[in-house]
Amino acid sequence: MSGKPVCIADFEEYARTFLPKSVYDYYRSGADDQETLAENVAAFSRWQLYPRVLRDVSVLDLSTSVLGHRVSMPVCVAATAMQRMAHADGETATARACQAVGTGMMLSSWATSSLEEVAAAAPGGLRWLQLYVYKDRAVTEGLVRRAERAGYRGIFLTADTPYLGRRIADVRNRFRLPPHLRLKNFSSSALAFSPGKDFGEDSGLAVYVAEAIDASVSWDDIRWLRALTSLPIVLKGILRADDAKEAVKIGVNGILVSNHGARQLDGVPATIDALPDIVEAVEGKVEVFLDGGVRKGTDVLKALALGARAVFIGRPLLWGLAYQGEEGAKEVLQMLKEEFRLAMALTGCRRVEEVDRTLIRRHRGLSRI
Ligand SMILES: Cc1cc2nc3c(=O)[nH]c(=O)nc-3n(C[C@H](O)[C@H](O)[C@H](O)COP(=O)(O)O)c2cc1C
Repeated sequence: MSGKPVCIADFEEYARTFLPKSVYDYYRSGADDQETLAENVAAFSRWQLYPRVLRDVSVLDLSTSVLGHRVSMPVCVAATAMQRMAHADGETATARACQAVGTGMMLSSWATSSLEEVAAAAPGGLRWLQLYVYKDRAVTEGLVRRAERAGYRGIFLTADTPYLGRRIADVRNRFRLPPHLRLKNFSSSALAFSPGKDFGEDSGLAVYVAEAIDASVSWDDIRWLRALTSLPIVLKGILRADDAKEAVKIGVNGILVSNHGARQLDGVPATIDALPDIVEAVEGKVEVFLDGGVRKGTDVLKALALGARAVFIGRPLLWGLAYQGEEGAKEVLQMLKEEFRLAMALTGCRRVEEVDRTLIRRHRGLSRI
Protein backbone atom coordinates (compact mmCIF):
# COMPACT_ATOMS: atom_id res chain seq x y z
CA MET A 1 0.00 0.00 0.00
CA SER A 2 1.37 3.42 -0.89
CA GLY A 3 0.00 6.54 0.77
CA LYS A 4 -2.84 6.79 3.24
CA PRO A 5 -5.56 4.13 3.33
CA VAL A 6 -8.67 5.23 1.47
CA CYS A 7 -10.82 2.13 1.96
CA ILE A 8 -10.95 -0.77 4.44
CA ALA A 9 -9.11 -3.06 2.00
CA ASP A 10 -6.10 -0.72 2.22
CA PHE A 11 -5.90 -1.28 5.99
CA GLU A 12 -6.01 -5.02 5.45
CA GLU A 13 -3.26 -4.82 2.85
CA TYR A 14 -1.07 -3.00 5.34
CA ALA A 15 -1.83 -5.58 8.06
CA ARG A 16 -1.06 -8.44 5.69
CA THR A 17 2.42 -7.14 4.99
CA PHE A 18 3.12 -5.93 8.54
CA LEU A 19 1.80 -8.66 10.87
CA PRO A 20 3.56 -11.99 11.49
CA LYS A 21 2.02 -14.61 9.20
CA SER A 22 0.45 -16.70 11.98
CA VAL A 23 -1.22 -13.60 13.45
CA TYR A 24 -2.55 -12.35 10.12
CA ASP A 25 -3.77 -15.87 9.31
CA TYR A 26 -5.55 -16.16 12.67
CA TYR A 27 -7.31 -12.82 12.17
CA ARG A 28 -8.20 -13.33 8.52
CA SER A 29 -9.20 -16.99 8.33
CA GLY A 30 -12.59 -18.56 8.07
CA ALA A 31 -13.45 -22.19 8.69
CA ASP A 32 -12.66 -25.08 6.33
CA ASP A 33 -12.87 -24.05 2.65
CA GLN A 34 -13.85 -20.50 3.63
CA GLU A 35 -16.90 -20.50 1.37
CA THR A 36 -18.93 -18.51 3.88
CA LEU A 37 -16.00 -16.14 4.40
CA ALA A 38 -16.26 -15.06 0.76
CA GLU A 39 -20.07 -15.15 0.87
CA ASN A 40 -20.31 -12.74 3.80
CA VAL A 41 -18.79 -10.03 1.63
CA ALA A 42 -20.12 -11.09 -1.78
CA ALA A 43 -23.74 -11.37 -0.65
CA PHE A 44 -23.96 -7.63 0.02
CA SER A 45 -23.56 -6.97 -3.71
CA ARG A 46 -26.56 -9.16 -4.50
CA TRP A 47 -28.72 -6.55 -2.78
CA GLN A 48 -29.29 -3.31 -4.64
CA LEU A 49 -30.29 0.12 -3.46
CA TYR A 50 -33.18 2.18 -4.84
CA PRO A 51 -32.36 5.73 -3.77
CA ARG A 52 -34.85 8.50 -3.18
CA VAL A 53 -33.78 11.78 -4.78
CA LEU A 54 -34.40 15.51 -4.23
CA ARG A 55 -34.82 15.31 -0.47
CA ASP A 56 -32.48 18.05 0.83
CA VAL A 57 -29.73 15.99 2.36
CA SER A 58 -27.60 18.97 3.38
CA VAL A 59 -27.96 18.13 7.08
CA LEU A 60 -27.73 14.52 8.25
CA ASP A 61 -28.02 12.83 11.63
CA LEU A 62 -26.25 9.45 11.70
CA SER A 63 -26.85 8.73 15.36
CA THR A 64 -29.07 6.01 16.76
CA SER A 65 -29.40 3.99 19.95
CA VAL A 66 -28.27 0.48 20.75
CA LEU A 67 -29.96 -1.25 23.69
CA GLY A 68 -31.02 2.16 24.96
CA HIS A 69 -27.65 3.89 24.62
CA ARG A 70 -26.91 6.64 22.13
CA VAL A 71 -24.20 5.97 19.54
CA SER A 72 -22.92 8.41 16.92
CA MET A 73 -23.52 5.89 14.12
CA PRO A 74 -25.06 2.43 13.71
CA VAL A 75 -21.61 0.81 13.49
CA CYS A 76 -20.16 -0.77 16.63
CA VAL A 77 -17.16 -3.00 17.27
CA ALA A 78 -17.56 -6.77 17.54
CA ALA A 79 -15.58 -8.96 19.93
CA THR A 80 -12.31 -10.09 18.43
CA ALA A 81 -9.94 -12.04 20.64
CA MET A 82 -6.30 -11.23 21.40
CA GLN A 83 -6.00 -7.71 20.06
CA ARG A 84 -2.51 -7.16 21.50
CA MET A 85 -1.19 -9.35 18.70
CA ALA A 86 -2.19 -6.52 16.34
CA HIS A 87 -0.78 -3.66 18.41
CA ALA A 88 0.89 -3.37 21.83
CA ASP A 89 -2.07 -1.39 23.22
CA GLY A 90 -4.62 -3.94 21.97
CA GLU A 91 -8.09 -3.69 23.45
CA THR A 92 -7.33 -0.51 25.39
CA ALA A 93 -6.62 1.25 22.08
CA THR A 94 -9.89 -0.06 20.67
CA ALA A 95 -11.78 1.20 23.72
CA ARG A 96 -10.28 4.68 23.39
CA ALA A 97 -11.00 4.78 19.66
CA CYS A 98 -14.63 3.78 20.22
CA GLN A 99 -15.03 6.37 22.94
CA ALA A 100 -13.54 9.07 20.71
CA VAL A 101 -15.86 8.21 17.84
CA GLY A 102 -18.85 7.79 20.16
CA THR A 103 -19.69 4.20 19.47
CA GLY A 104 -19.89 0.93 21.41
CA MET A 105 -17.30 -1.79 21.88
CA MET A 106 -17.99 -5.46 22.52
CA LEU A 107 -14.99 -6.84 24.42
CA SER A 108 -14.03 -10.48 23.89
CA SER A 109 -13.73 -12.69 26.96
CA TRP A 110 -10.51 -13.78 25.30
CA ALA A 111 -9.00 -10.33 25.41
CA THR A 112 -5.32 -9.78 26.06
CA SER A 113 -6.32 -6.91 28.39
CA SER A 114 -8.52 -7.44 31.42
CA LEU A 115 -12.06 -6.11 31.26
CA GLU A 116 -11.17 -3.72 34.11
CA GLU A 117 -8.16 -2.37 32.20
CA VAL A 118 -10.38 -1.76 29.19
CA ALA A 119 -12.96 0.06 31.31
CA ALA A 120 -10.26 2.22 32.89
CA ALA A 121 -8.80 3.10 29.47
CA ALA A 122 -12.05 4.72 28.31
CA PRO A 123 -14.18 5.40 31.37
CA GLY A 124 -16.82 7.32 29.43
CA GLY A 125 -17.15 4.71 26.70
CA LEU A 126 -20.04 2.38 25.97
CA ARG A 127 -19.00 -1.26 26.25
CA TRP A 128 -20.44 -4.73 26.45
CA LEU A 129 -18.81 -8.03 27.39
CA GLN A 130 -18.86 -11.02 25.06
CA LEU A 131 -19.22 -14.24 27.00
CA TYR A 132 -18.58 -17.94 26.47
CA VAL A 133 -20.10 -20.61 28.68
CA TYR A 134 -17.24 -22.34 30.51
CA LYS A 135 -17.49 -25.88 31.83
CA ASP A 136 -16.96 -24.33 35.23
CA ARG A 137 -20.04 -22.06 35.47
CA ALA A 138 -18.35 -20.15 38.31
CA VAL A 139 -15.87 -18.83 35.71
CA THR A 140 -18.69 -17.53 33.52
CA GLU A 141 -20.55 -16.09 36.50
CA GLY A 142 -17.36 -14.39 37.71
CA LEU A 143 -16.99 -12.62 34.36
CA VAL A 144 -20.58 -11.40 34.50
CA ARG A 145 -20.13 -10.01 38.01
CA ARG A 146 -16.91 -8.26 37.06
CA ALA A 147 -18.60 -6.77 33.98
CA GLU A 148 -21.43 -5.47 36.15
CA ARG A 149 -18.98 -3.86 38.57
CA ALA A 150 -16.86 -2.34 35.81
CA GLY A 151 -19.79 -0.59 34.12
CA TYR A 152 -20.36 -2.84 31.12
CA ARG A 153 -23.85 -2.21 29.70
CA GLY A 154 -24.72 -5.68 28.48
CA ILE A 155 -23.63 -9.24 27.74
CA PHE A 156 -23.27 -10.73 24.27
CA LEU A 157 -23.49 -14.49 24.76
CA THR A 158 -21.84 -16.34 21.90
CA ALA A 159 -24.08 -19.26 21.00
CA ASP A 160 -22.24 -20.71 18.01
CA THR A 161 -19.09 -22.06 19.64
CA PRO A 162 -19.55 -25.33 21.55
CA TYR A 163 -16.34 -26.32 19.74
CA LEU A 164 -14.00 -24.14 17.74
CA GLY A 165 -14.49 -24.19 13.96
CA ARG A 166 -11.66 -25.75 11.97
CA ARG A 167 -9.46 -22.99 10.64
CA ILE A 168 -6.95 -24.72 8.46
CA ALA A 169 -4.25 -22.04 8.55
CA ASP A 170 -4.31 -22.11 12.36
CA VAL A 171 -3.89 -25.87 12.35
CA ARG A 172 -0.98 -25.60 9.90
CA ASN A 173 0.61 -22.76 11.89
CA ARG A 174 -0.11 -24.53 15.21
CA PHE A 175 -1.52 -21.22 16.33
CA ARG A 176 -0.43 -20.09 19.85
CA LEU A 177 -0.35 -16.76 21.65
CA PRO A 178 3.05 -15.06 21.49
CA PRO A 179 4.98 -15.71 24.74
CA HIS A 180 4.51 -12.22 26.20
CA LEU A 181 0.69 -12.38 26.01
CA ARG A 182 -2.11 -14.22 27.82
CA LEU A 183 -5.89 -14.03 28.08
CA LYS A 184 -5.97 -11.41 30.79
CA ASN A 185 -9.48 -12.06 32.11
CA PHE A 186 -8.36 -15.32 33.70
CA SER A 187 -5.99 -15.82 36.58
CA SER A 188 -5.33 -19.54 36.17
CA SER A 189 -2.77 -20.38 33.51
CA ALA A 190 -5.03 -23.19 32.21
CA LEU A 191 -7.72 -20.64 31.25
CA ALA A 192 -5.28 -17.93 30.16
CA PHE A 193 -4.24 -19.86 27.01
CA SER A 194 -0.65 -19.45 28.17
CA PRO A 195 1.90 -20.36 25.55
CA GLY A 196 3.86 -22.66 27.90
CA LYS A 197 1.33 -25.46 27.57
CA ASP A 198 1.71 -28.32 25.11
CA PHE A 199 -1.14 -28.11 22.56
CA GLY A 200 0.21 -30.88 20.34
CA GLU A 201 -0.07 -30.57 16.58
CA ASP A 202 -3.38 -28.69 16.54
CA SER A 203 -4.45 -25.08 16.66
CA GLY A 204 -3.80 -24.26 20.32
CA LEU A 205 -7.09 -22.38 20.50
CA ALA A 206 -9.08 -25.38 19.30
CA VAL A 207 -7.52 -27.44 22.10
CA TYR A 208 -8.24 -24.67 24.62
CA VAL A 209 -11.91 -24.55 23.62
CA ALA A 210 -12.31 -28.32 23.78
CA GLU A 211 -10.86 -28.31 27.29
CA ALA A 212 -12.51 -25.22 28.78
CA ILE A 213 -15.74 -24.40 26.95
CA ASP A 214 -18.87 -26.43 27.63
CA ALA A 215 -20.11 -28.29 24.55
CA SER A 216 -23.27 -29.19 26.48
CA VAL A 217 -24.34 -25.52 26.43
CA SER A 218 -28.09 -25.31 25.78
CA TRP A 219 -31.13 -23.07 26.09
CA ASP A 220 -31.11 -23.87 29.83
CA ASP A 221 -27.90 -21.86 30.07
CA ILE A 222 -29.58 -18.86 28.50
CA ARG A 223 -32.32 -19.16 31.12
CA TRP A 224 -29.60 -19.46 33.76
CA LEU A 225 -27.85 -16.33 32.50
CA ARG A 226 -31.16 -14.46 32.29
CA ALA A 227 -31.77 -15.22 35.97
CA LEU A 228 -28.19 -14.37 36.90
CA THR A 229 -28.03 -10.76 35.73
CA SER A 230 -30.22 -7.80 35.04
CA LEU A 231 -27.85 -6.57 32.34
CA PRO A 232 -29.28 -6.70 28.81
CA ILE A 233 -28.40 -9.98 27.06
CA VAL A 234 -27.85 -10.30 23.33
CA LEU A 235 -27.57 -13.75 21.78
CA LYS A 236 -24.72 -13.75 19.27
CA GLY A 237 -24.53 -16.24 16.43
CA ILE A 238 -28.17 -16.69 15.42
CA LEU A 239 -28.97 -17.62 11.81
CA ARG A 240 -32.46 -19.16 12.09
CA ALA A 241 -35.86 -17.64 12.73
CA ASP A 242 -36.90 -20.41 15.15
CA ASP A 243 -33.79 -19.89 17.29
CA ALA A 244 -34.47 -16.17 17.32
CA LYS A 245 -38.05 -16.76 18.47
CA GLU A 246 -36.87 -19.08 21.24
CA ALA A 247 -34.38 -16.47 22.42
CA VAL A 248 -37.08 -13.81 22.55
CA LYS A 249 -39.32 -16.18 24.52
CA ILE A 250 -36.58 -16.62 27.12
CA GLY A 251 -36.30 -12.88 27.51
CA VAL A 252 -33.10 -11.84 25.77
CA ASN A 253 -32.88 -8.20 24.77
CA GLY A 254 -31.32 -8.57 21.37
CA ILE A 255 -30.26 -10.93 18.60
CA LEU A 256 -26.96 -10.63 16.76
CA VAL A 257 -27.28 -12.30 13.39
CA SER A 258 -23.77 -13.63 13.00
CA ASN A 259 -21.83 -16.57 11.65
CA HIS A 260 -18.81 -15.63 13.76
CA GLY A 261 -17.11 -14.02 10.80
CA ALA A 262 -17.40 -17.37 8.95
CA ARG A 263 -15.02 -18.95 11.47
CA GLN A 264 -17.30 -21.65 12.86
CA LEU A 265 -19.44 -23.70 10.45
CA ASP A 266 -18.53 -23.29 6.79
CA GLY A 267 -21.40 -23.47 4.31
CA VAL A 268 -23.82 -21.31 6.28
CA PRO A 269 -25.43 -18.33 4.56
CA ALA A 270 -24.05 -14.85 4.53
CA THR A 271 -25.46 -12.91 7.44
CA ILE A 272 -27.07 -10.27 5.20
CA ASP A 273 -29.09 -13.07 3.58
CA ALA A 274 -30.10 -14.55 6.94
CA LEU A 275 -31.15 -11.19 8.36
CA PRO A 276 -34.62 -10.63 6.79
CA ASP A 277 -36.17 -13.85 8.15
CA ILE A 278 -34.93 -13.11 11.63
CA VAL A 279 -36.17 -9.53 11.58
CA GLU A 280 -39.57 -10.87 10.56
CA ALA A 281 -39.53 -13.58 13.23
CA VAL A 282 -38.84 -11.31 16.20
CA GLU A 283 -41.68 -8.93 15.21
CA GLY A 284 -39.93 -5.87 16.61
CA LYS A 285 -39.86 -7.30 20.13
CA VAL A 286 -36.08 -6.99 20.47
CA GLU A 287 -33.31 -5.22 18.61
CA VAL A 288 -31.67 -7.20 15.81
CA PHE A 289 -28.03 -6.62 14.88
CA LEU A 290 -25.76 -8.03 12.19
CA ASP A 291 -22.07 -8.73 11.83
CA GLY A 292 -20.03 -10.42 9.10
CA GLY A 293 -18.55 -8.93 5.96
CA VAL A 294 -19.38 -5.29 6.64
CA ARG A 295 -16.64 -3.42 4.78
CA LYS A 296 -18.20 -0.17 3.55
CA GLY A 297 -20.87 2.40 4.19
CA THR A 298 -23.37 0.94 1.73
CA ASP A 299 -23.11 -2.42 3.56
CA VAL A 300 -24.23 -0.66 6.74
CA LEU A 301 -27.10 0.99 4.92
CA LYS A 302 -28.20 -2.31 3.36
CA ALA A 303 -28.25 -4.05 6.74
CA LEU A 304 -30.32 -1.24 8.23
CA ALA A 305 -32.70 -1.28 5.26
CA LEU A 306 -33.27 -4.99 5.93
CA GLY A 307 -34.11 -4.28 9.55
CA ALA A 308 -30.88 -4.30 11.56
CA ARG A 309 -30.68 -1.75 14.33
CA ALA A 310 -26.91 -1.52 13.93
CA VAL A 311 -23.99 -3.53 12.60
CA PHE A 312 -20.76 -4.69 14.21
CA ILE A 313 -17.35 -4.95 12.58
CA GLY A 314 -14.69 -7.51 13.44
CA ARG A 315 -11.68 -7.71 11.14
CA PRO A 316 -11.70 -4.10 9.84
CA LEU A 317 -11.00 -2.88 13.37
CA LEU A 318 -8.08 -5.31 13.70
CA TRP A 319 -6.59 -4.01 10.46
CA GLY A 320 -6.87 -0.46 11.84
CA LEU A 321 -5.15 -1.50 15.07
CA ALA A 322 -2.35 -3.16 13.12
CA TYR A 323 -1.98 0.00 11.04
CA GLN A 324 -1.66 2.51 13.88
CA GLY A 325 -3.11 1.36 17.20
CA GLU A 326 -5.72 3.72 18.60
CA GLU A 327 -5.30 6.18 15.71
CA GLY A 328 -5.69 3.42 13.14
CA ALA A 329 -8.78 2.02 14.86
CA LYS A 330 -10.24 5.51 14.93
CA GLU A 331 -9.47 5.99 11.24
CA VAL A 332 -11.31 2.77 10.38
CA LEU A 333 -14.37 3.83 12.37
CA GLN A 334 -14.32 7.32 10.94
CA MET A 335 -13.93 6.01 7.41
CA LEU A 336 -16.99 3.79 7.81
CA LYS A 337 -18.86 6.72 9.32
CA GLU A 338 -18.08 8.99 6.37
CA GLU A 339 -18.94 6.25 3.90
CA PHE A 340 -22.22 5.65 5.72
CA ARG A 341 -22.92 9.40 5.68
CA LEU A 342 -22.52 9.43 1.91
CA ALA A 343 -24.68 6.33 1.51
CA MET A 344 -27.41 8.01 3.58
CA ALA A 345 -27.20 11.21 1.55
CA LEU A 346 -27.23 9.46 -1.81
CA THR A 347 -30.25 7.35 -0.85
CA GLY A 348 -32.09 10.44 0.37
CA CYS A 349 -32.05 9.56 4.08
CA ARG A 350 -31.60 12.38 6.56
CA ARG A 351 -32.00 10.29 9.69
CA VAL A 352 -31.34 6.65 10.42
CA GLU A 353 -35.08 6.11 10.94
CA GLU A 354 -35.63 6.99 7.28
CA VAL A 355 -33.63 3.97 6.13
CA ASP A 356 -36.39 1.51 5.30
CA ARG A 357 -37.19 -1.66 3.39
CA THR A 358 -38.27 0.25 0.25
CA LEU A 359 -34.64 1.21 -0.38
CA ILE A 360 -33.46 -2.31 -1.09
CA ARG A 361 -34.22 -5.24 -3.34
CA ARG A 362 -32.46 -8.44 -4.15
CA HIS A 363 -30.62 -8.31 -7.46
CA ARG A 364 -32.72 -9.89 -10.21
CA GLY A 365 -30.05 -10.43 -12.88
CA LEU A 366 -28.68 -13.94 -13.26
CA SER A 367 -25.15 -12.76 -13.93
CA ARG A 368 -24.47 -11.76 -10.34
CA ILE A 369 -25.79 -14.85 -8.52
C1 LIG B 1 -9.74 -12.65 14.85
C2 LIG B 1 -11.16 -12.82 15.31
C3 LIG B 1 -11.40 -13.14 16.63
C4 LIG B 1 -12.71 -13.28 17.08
N1 LIG B 1 -12.93 -13.53 18.40
C5 LIG B 1 -14.19 -13.67 18.84
C6 LIG B 1 -14.46 -13.90 20.21
O1 LIG B 1 -13.55 -13.97 21.04
N2 LIG B 1 -15.76 -14.05 20.59
C7 LIG B 1 -16.78 -13.97 19.70
O2 LIG B 1 -17.94 -14.12 20.08
N3 LIG B 1 -16.57 -13.71 18.40
C8 LIG B 1 -15.30 -13.55 17.96
N4 LIG B 1 -15.09 -13.28 16.63
C9 LIG B 1 -16.23 -13.05 15.73
C10 LIG B 1 -16.59 -11.56 15.71
O3 LIG B 1 -17.18 -11.18 16.92
C11 LIG B 1 -17.57 -11.23 14.58
O4 LIG B 1 -18.68 -12.10 14.66
C12 LIG B 1 -16.96 -11.31 13.18
O5 LIG B 1 -15.61 -10.94 13.20
C13 LIG B 1 -17.71 -10.42 12.22
O6 LIG B 1 -17.25 -10.59 10.92
P1 LIG B 1 -16.19 -9.61 10.18
O7 LIG B 1 -14.84 -9.94 10.75
O8 LIG B 1 -16.33 -10.00 8.77
O9 LIG B 1 -16.60 -8.19 10.47
C14 LIG B 1 -13.79 -13.13 16.18
C15 LIG B 1 -13.52 -12.82 14.84
C16 LIG B 1 -12.23 -12.63 14.41
C17 LIG B 1 -11.98 -12.24 12.98
